[in-house]
Amino acid sequence: MDLGASIRPLWGLDPDVAFLNHGSFGACPTSVLDEQSRYRAILERQPVDFFVRTSHEMLYEARRTVARFLRVHGAGLVFVPNATTGTATVLHSLDIGPGDRVVVTDHTYGAVLNALRHRGCTLVVVPLELDDPDPAATLLEAVTAETRLVVIDAITSSTGWALPWVEVVKGCRERGVLCHVDAAHAPGQVDEDLQALDPDFWVGNLHKWAYSPKGAAVMVVREELRERMRPPVVSHFDGWPMAFDWPGTIDPTAYLAAPAALELFDWDQARAHGRQVVRAGAELVRDRIGALLPLRDSGCQMSLLDVGLPDLPAADALRERLRTAGVEVASTTWRGRGYLRISGAVYNDEDDYVRLAEALAAVS
Ligand SMILES: Cc1ncc(COP(=O)(O)O)c(C=O)c1O
Repeated sequence: MDLGASIRPLWGLDPDVAFLNHGSFGACPTSVLDEQSRYRAILERQPVDFFVRTSHEMLYEARRTVARFLRVHGAGLVFVPNATTGTATVLHSLDIGPGDRVVVTDHTYGAVLNALRHRGCTLVVVPLELDDPDPAATLLEAVTAETRLVVIDAITSSTGWALPWVEVVKGCRERGVLCHVDAAHAPGQVDEDLQALDPDFWVGNLHKWAYSPKGAAVMVVREELRERMRPPVVSHFDGWPMAFDWPGTIDPTAYLAAPAALELFDWDQARAHGRQVVRAGAELVRDRIGALLPLRDSGCQMSLLDVGLPDLPAADALRERLRTAGVEVASTTWRGRGYLRISGAVYNDEDDYVRLAEALAAVS
């Protein structure tokens, strides 16, 4: 399948906007939304049949398909509506609270930090320089016998950085410390043998780079930890996976339609396209407008452009001006400096980054 502009009609994206912010909210192809509507029609035609008699088998099949895609056994994976819920579930199940030392980095996602602060634990924030040659070693130096949990992002939000989470998982295991991988951006972007690695906790969104409907994410938990897992909201059932399959009445059609998205692409090709297009695009913008490019050769589909912004709200203001000029990008902030974060999805091609460079030249 050709990627780039030729397949963009598969999405209902606004043709007047160069969409370079797939990192914040992924866009779902219309055929996948049609598949979700098909499941909704089945549900609403006979809701009791659906919830009582048929949906368990459907969920089981969807779980198996997604698990194959993520290279993990279906028994170790449950659906959750988003990464935020998955992380909240891990913190709740471990009863993280006052007195617990939790190691994070200064790239950890803001909502995850907020969830940790709400639990009243002690945060050990490890600063990671963008040019650190061995960020896993830097992080692991902060892990001690007193550490209750390490939280590592697979791909950071503020800095679009593919961190060495596999090394961190292994390093924590060697030290006997639990590790939670915030892999919100990983499904569709990383291709790791999760079953072989067997992380303690791993939470990933399907509604970003796996092009699924919104409200589809997974939580993967190591076998011996599964019996400790408790959803933050308790319904009729206890235990893994039933407590997660039935969190009360919800619309599970995003989960059921997720496999339809996984069939759409050759994922090696999709990943290669994203890396190539975002890197070339970021270099194009750099060459045209002279922005700095704190790019790492990380295999990540997101790039960070330093356009000399002091911080948010300057970055937010620039983002809004670019939107008016027909380009959607993300504004981020890190260590008191504002950045633009641009993405490379399967439907992006060079023309999108040319439009970004032109819009930047026009508004700055
Ligand atoms: C690193 C990271 N973690 C967690 C999340 C939360 O994802 P969600 O809003 O789907 O729960 C995001 C969202 O962009 C993210 O970038």
